[in-house]
Amino acid sequence: MEVVILADPAAVGSHTAELVARRAAETPDMVLGIATGSSPLGTYRELARLHAQGDVTFDGVRCFALDEYVGLPERHPASYALVVERELTTPLGLDPANVRTPDGSAADIQQACLDYEHALAASGGVDLQILGIGTNGHIGFNEPTSSLASRTRVKALSQQTRMDNARFFAKGEDVPTHCITQGLGTIMEAREIVLVAQGEAKAAAVAAAIEGPVSSMCPASLLQFHPRTRIVLDEAAASGLT
Ligand code: F6R
Repeated sequence: MEVVILADPAAVGSHTAELVARRAAETPDMVLGIATGSSPLGTYRELARLHAQGDVTFDGVRCFALDEYVGLPERHPASYALVVERELTTPLGLDPANVRTPDGSAADIQQACLDYEHALAASGGVDLQILGIGTNGHIGFNEPTSSLASRTRVKALSQQTRMDNARFFAKGEDVPTHCITQGLGTIMEAREIVLVAQGEAKAAAVAAAIEGPVSSMCPASLLQFHPRTRIVLDEAAASGLT
């Protein structure tokens, strides 16, 4: 596990964007695993800037999102399908046919989870996975106590995560209770992982992930077993490290 500590969120975004751009240049049809939420937005916006300047192309890049809420109306602004369209597909000029999010409104949700695993396997697997981390140490929506070998499945969101994510929903609107998420076993199959975290609110989870025991109580700690993981932090997110 390689830990990179940078001065501020802007530096985290440019460092991570440069890594993604380099991998896209090396492997133009790479499979990119994408997180949503606020942590990677600086990275995505920097990638969009590089793309607009003509410095990088994502024409052949294939993307798989980590997770999606269950039961949101189609095209709800907080749905990850829409976030991905807004933050990645459009600004990076991705081919929409190459971008997938789990189908949180499928009639047969268990089948949707299986289909997602099959699609990931059929793609050849994720070359580079971008992750954020929850304040409770989750990655994807693998909440504490998630099985370390889990695959894509339906999970209940913890109270903490629902509170943390209320900011993405309109005032008074209910945050969904469930999601589809890639499992920890699924995420660990990515050939390379980069986790980004900024801000003091992430400091305890980051310290537990990097320095704590590997435990399902902090799902991100499983990354200690991954052979090619880089954790990119700003100083505030790194402030709990010894
Ligand atoms: C989102 C995801 C989550 C977030 C995490 C942090 O696709 O997989 O694990 O990365 O909840 O969210 P932010 O970045 O909003 O603090």
